[in-house]
Amino acid sequence: MAKMWAGRTAGDTSKIADEFNASIGFDSRMYKEDITGSIAHAKMLAKQGIIAPEEADTLCEALAVILEDIASGRLPIDPNAEDIHMFVEEVLTSRVGDVGKKLHTARSRNDQVALDLRMYLMNRVDELSERIYSLITALTDQAERHKEAIMPGYTHLQRAQPIMFGHHLMAYAMMLLRDADRLADCKRRMNVSPIGCCALAGTTYDTDRYFEAEQLGFDDIARNSLDGVSDRDFVVELLSDISILMMHLSRLSEEIILWSSWEFGFVELSDAYTTGSSIMPQKKNSDMAELVRGKTGRVYGDLMAALTMLKGLPLAYNKDMQEDKEGVFDAVDTAEMSLEVFVGMISTMKVKPENMKAAAQRGFINATDLADYLTKKGMPFRSAYKISGSIVAYCIEHGQVLEDLPLSTYQEFSDIFEEDLYEDIDLYTCVNKRNSVGGTSVPSIESQINYVRRKCNG
Ligand code: ARG
Repeated sequence: MAKMWAGRTAGDTSKIADEFNASIGFDSRMYKEDITGSIAHAKMLAKQGIIAPEEADTLCEALAVILEDIASGRLPIDPNAEDIHMFVEEVLTSRVGDVGKKLHTARSRNDQVALDLRMYLMNRVDELSERIYSLITALTDQAERHKEAIMPGYTHLQRAQPIMFGHHLMAYAMMLLRDADRLADCKRRMNVSPIGCCALAGTTYDTDRYFEAEQLGFDDIARNSLDGVSDRDFVVELLSDISILMMHLSRLSEEIILWSSWEFGFVELSDAYTTGSSIMPQKKNSDMAELVRGKTGRVYGDLMAALTMLKGLPLAYNKDMQEDKEGVFDAVDTAEMSLEVFVGMISTMKVKPENMKAAAQRGFINATDLADYLTKKGMPFRSAYKISGSIVAYCIEHGQVLEDLPLSTYQEFSDIFEEDLYEDIDLYTCVNKRNSVGGTSVPSIESQINYVRRKCNG
């Protein structure tokens, strides 16, 4: 079939070249944005007297029907079309005749595709943000439920100091709040209309770019036509933001995988979010978390592909840029699905505070508090440190924990020890003494929860 752009070239392109050149396989998902953009364009052309008002009406009505037809499945996307822009224009012209050929006045596919992609991604950013907030809510609800569940806090994956499980979960809520904030910021720069930049240099027609941008809900327009058609910073930015988001989800995945192992036993995932083994009947695998951790790699790949694709391009549009879409679509789809799975997985996750507490006790993470007890009673810290160390060694040797050691045993190490020592080394006391702002005490967790909930609702 003759190409709409056939003119300069007369000979047919080869079949393989057509296939190679086509983007319809992945850009048809922007059909709604493409048609919405075209309706705004037709209106602008009429307002400026570039086409007649009746012509604009014909175009707008036909475009609205095409939109409905594609959405309902009545009009299947032709896989042999070059891209979604060509497809819509071809259908339009076949339905309304010559007036359809006027739609592309004062426009190029270069500004058209930049417009469609911005509009499409802006919608997807909204969906992503919504899912991030749902996950923050799921984490915050679990944090509230378990704000008094003591667990070992780790550094170097070695038991370090006791913390509350709620405190640990709220750390992820804070990370995700930043992710939502980054997306909002990314959208602010995405919200700039390139339409009217045309092929690269603007146009000789008396267009109204502000009118067109406003109809499409943009806050601003691109101020330089070369930049307008060649800028894909918003793709790279979105990919970076999603990469950071996935990195966060991947870290949480790693913890969930550890926590649900027999060795930790801190949480148990619901059957709805685990899988079994085809051979080992005892297995309950955290596949969802593992997949999110694995998919993080491919999102990073999408980011690298976009950066590399753009780095050597002279201004303005180059066909390389058609490669911007699949990666960013893949990243958005992947992140969205990962978030959705996580919301369900986190909200149904069963927490096992008894196991967390046992691990906290076995880690002697209150040994510092034991030394502090002696110091407060007048013993120099170095001596107190030494005695506490010997008591820990004794406990290890006898399979005991500090909390359960009888007072008489303590007094064999130092006669300073009295009954009140148990209060000081109680893990609950240890945690709640850490009541500095942002610390792990219960009141601090409560204020973190309030802060996050306020952010989610405002
Ligand atoms: N399918 C193309 C893309 O995704 C549309 C723009 C084509 N422009 C051009 N000058 N060939 O980038």
